[in-house]
Amino acid sequence: MDSDYWNKIYQKKSETEVSWFQEIPQKSLELIDSLRLPVETKLIDIGGGDSRLVDYLLARGFKHLTVLDISAISLQKLKARLGPDADKITYIETDIVNFTPSESYQLWHDRATFHFLTDLAQIEKYLSTAYNALSAGGHLIVSTFSKTGPEKCSGLNIAQYSEDDLKKLFGRFFQNIKCFENTHHTPWGTTQNFVYCGFKKL
Ligand SMILES: C[S@@+](CC[C@H](N)C(=O)[O-])C[C@H]1O[C@@H](n2cnc3c(N)ncnc32)[C@H](O)[C@@H]1O
Repeated sequence: MDSDYWNKIYQKKSETEVSWFQEIPQKSLELIDSLRLPVETKLIDIGGGDSRLVDYLLARGFKHLTVLDISAISLQKLKARLGPDADKITYIETDIVNFTPSESYQLWHDRATFHFLTDLAQIEKYLSTAYNALSAGGHLIVSTFSKTGPEKCSGLNIAQYSEDDLKKLFGRFFQNIKCFENTHHTPWGTTQNFVYCGFKKL
């Protein structure tokens, strides 16, 4: 994966000029809220970029938030937006495929990053990294384009998944809690169908 590619996108486009922008990451927050996690939970957002998810998690009192992204520029933009709250977050700039976690997490969240891995070896690496990074009882939330979603994102090929595909793939490592589809409205009014799944590491 090419970090320059993503850095150029984040350099050129403002927050609301990218298709994935969400004023409120509603479905992620609903899933996270449903888990009733303590504020001490260590949470990592994979490919979080400058998503507003962490703003809402900080507002809920979560104390240990990490955002991982391949793009240094996206993380700089996130820090700039957070202002005085920027110090409350840990930032990891890496390709998820090369990520070796140095600590354990209790929640792994990924919206619209996993689907960029189209090579089987990368997918396997992602799954084993997520499994090893999560402590027993930890949760994983993954959200990708569905079978009726777009075939590309930002000019890159993606892999589309059905609920069953995600259950099969992640079910090898985790117990499924729930899955659902959701329509995302881009800032310019088009729609993109996503599938969300929540899992638990036993
Ligand atoms: C479509 S955006 C989604 C951003 C955010 N999760 C959200 O929902 O707003 C995909 C993000 O994944 C990051 N990304 C893409 N490939 C990656 C990889 N191999 N490792 C880490 N981050 C990656 C991009 O830089 C970008 O921030």
